[in-house]
Amino acid sequence: MTLRSVVLGCGSYLPARTVTNAELAVKVDTTDEWIVQRTGIRERHIAADGELTSDLATQAAKAALTHAGIDAQSIDLIVLATSTPDQTFPASAVSVQTNLGITHGAAFDLQAVCSGFVYAMATADSLLRAGTFKRALVIGAETFSRILDWEDRTTCVLFGDGAGAVVLEAQELPGTREDRGVLVSCLRSDGRHKSKLYVDGGPSSTGTVGKLRMEGRAVFKHAVAMVTDVIRDAFKATGYTAQDLNWFVPHQANKRIIDDSAEKLGIAPEKVVITVDLHGNTSAASIPLALDTAVRDGRIKRGDLVMLEAMGGGFTWGSVLVRW
Ligand code: UT7
Repeated sequence: MTLRSVVLGCGSYLPARTVTNAELAVKVDTTDEWIVQRTGIRERHIAADGELTSDLATQAAKAALTHAGIDAQSIDLIVLATSTPDQTFPASAVSVQTNLGITHGAAFDLQAVCSGFVYAMATADSLLRAGTFKRALVIGAETFSRILDWEDRTTCVLFGDGAGAVVLEAQELPGTREDRGVLVSCLRSDGRHKSKLYVDGGPSSTGTVGKLRMEGRAVFKHAVAMVTDVIRDAFKATGYTAQDLNWFVPHQANKRIIDDSAEKLGIAPEKVVITVDLHGNTSAASIPLALDTAVRDGRIKRGDLVMLEAMGGGFTWGSVLVRW
């Protein structure tokens, strides 16, 4: 028998305000046609003034707890993946903890940009399998609208705000690849690429928050190769193949990257969960938002084999193979 991190439930939250491509075309020199053709994005949600990353995260966490049918008091670990925390410190995770009325256990933020949720799943999984904690909330939450340069058409049309969460529980299972829960995670980073996607401010450098800067074409060039590598690592570690997957839930940055990755791996298009059209790129929130969408509409069911994958600033990238 071995400890596995089993998914008990998931939830998500999107700010009420939707911004279409047509609305952005009024502000910057772009068109709906360009954005849809190059990215697949049609609209995104933007947080209201005063609506914080921890507020979005709290709503997603509450939805996940309700879906799991458990009380917040049984959570002893909160890992919040975000690059847009409420403040430099304390971690936004402790605000979520307080909002949920939890005063025990541990809560911390984790920053791996768009790969944040994959990193957070891997981290929570390790802590649960070590027996250190029993039940974890793993959250991805972002207010990227706050770090966008709204005059830069090459970036401002791409991103959105939102949050998603899953509840993981440590369970004793046989230890085979047929177990439910996280089966393997593969994490990578390579800081030589750090200037291709970054924020031009920070507490230790400029003393300001800064704005997002990206060499989109350079990121695009690396994305497919990097994500297919870590997915192949996950297949190698478990003996599964693309044909065994029920669902592929990639980071939602660009539909072309998703389509190319799926094709290269031999994953059938009908197994790919796409939400980038409605959410834009919500960075660390994109995977749990997509997961929750596909669970709520009945696609992802208990026992399904689901591959999560992300790539982002750093570069960081990674995969998590989970049996739902
Ligand atoms: O989540 C983290 C990881 N991030 C990503 O995965 C993003 C990866 N990159 C991408 O998704 C794509 O590179 C973009 C969507 C950002 C850009 O698509 P692209 O096909 O690589 O376009 P490009 O950057 O090569 O730009 C093509 C043209 C340029 O004009 P010229 O130089 O050919 O005259 C741009 O100036 O499109 C122009 N352009 C725009 N035109 C209308 C750039 N942004 C826009 C815009 N509207 N919003």
